[in-house]
Amino acid sequence: MAAISLARLRSRVETLARFGALSGGGVTRTCWSPQHEEARAWLLGEIRAAGLEAWVDPAGNVFGAVGTRAFGADAPAVLTGSHIDTVPEGGILDGALGVLAGLEALQTIREAQAPHRRPLAVAAWSDEEGRYGSLFGSRAFCGRLDLTRVEAMTAVDGERLVDAMARAGFDPRRVGEATAPAGAVAAYVELHIEQGPRLEEARIPIGVVDSIVGVRRTRVAFVGQADHAGTTPMERRRDGFLAAAEYALKARELVVKHGGGKSVTNVGVVRVHPGVTNIVPARGELVHELRGPDPETLAGLDRRSVSLARRVARRRGIDVEIQPMSATEPAICSARVQAAIEQACATLGIPSTRLYSAAGHDAQNLAAITDAGMIFIPSKGGRSHRVDEMSDWDAIERGANVLLHTLLGLAA
Ligand code: GLV
Ligand code: MN
Ligand code: MN
Repeated sequence: MAAISLARLRSRVETLARFGALSGGGVTRTCWSPQHEEARAWLLGEIRAAGLEAWVDPAGNVFGAVGTRAFGADAPAVLTGSHIDTVPEGGILDGALGVLAGLEALQTIREAQAPHRRPLAVAAWSDEEGRYGSLFGSRAFCGRLDLTRVEAMTAVDGERLVDAMARAGFDPRRVGEATAPAGAVAAYVELHIEQGPRLEEARIPIGVVDSIVGVRRTRVAFVGQADHAGTTPMERRRDGFLAAAEYALKARELVVKHGGGKSVTNVGVVRVHPGVTNIVPARGELVHELRGPDPETLAGLDRRSVSLARRVARRRGIDVEIQPMSATEPAICSARVQAAIEQACATLGIPSTRLYSAAGHDAQNLAAITDAGMIFIPSKGGRSHRVDEMSDWDAIERGANVLLHTLLGLAA
């Protein structure tokens, strides 16, 4: 039976981890950064060294294919992949594992000359982590990117996407050319770490993802009045930060109360302006994220959050600006791909369970154009989006072999 080489996969995972490596462990490798572009060049070299055809599309997605360049509608490809960008101070497996295990599976198939009727390809989707907008590369590939918005897309620190792309040698006006022709992808399957504690706690080695979370991000800015922090009487202050703080606490209560048990919320970005100790903040700005598996619940939470922001602002006599940043709809994974993963697990004698993904993934864009699914392996301590994110190497080997046999099943 065909099997991947853990030694080769591990060596690639450890090498990729050097691009953007932090002294205390983990990596910062945000999309289009110099570290990311060095990693991209290295990845292209690895794809070619594995005997695969390699190319990059105008949205910055990297591809490798067994045989000829994929994505003609006449020969739909079975596709795998993930991403090589990371969150700031992220781990070495989130995204990297799915790309490198995909490459390893394709190299194994090529070397073993394992029979497959459909073309096979691996993708590294650009900006999965959404520095400039969520799931950018897979959105472009799947025709789900609003091209009129590319010019305005900006990171939370103010850097414009078009500038970051130009610095990396890409022409943002050509992003639309990345859209795949209809029918180009026969199926998509992505291997990823779970990023949560459920598989480890249940002692089950493989998760077969049945659905993926929807995510909404909104910039909420409370605009009050700058004043002297010593001389202005308390009752006369119009403090933008205090409004933002009240909103953050009440939004959490709102999601716990009306979120149906599975919805979650986070405020991971907060800005205070002018941001000095002796000025009452004129402006308190935050990015509010809402997540959940159910589209109606999510839309309801979004509406309630907007009303809450207006109420908080009104009561405090200040203004509020509400700007939706991104919306990713929840996705259902394909029954055919779930069955193919379960068949691969049965072939390999590995137990599995079905699982909901509370993290966002490129697979949810692919689900709009083809049969898409995901394979999860346990994360140590459920840790992710932090520098000590890790999985056991034998769990990685199992996951990569399940990916290999799922790809062979889907391409047969
Ligand atoms: C992707 O990592 C996400 O934010 O869920
Ligand atoms: Mn991530
Ligand atoms: Mn990821």
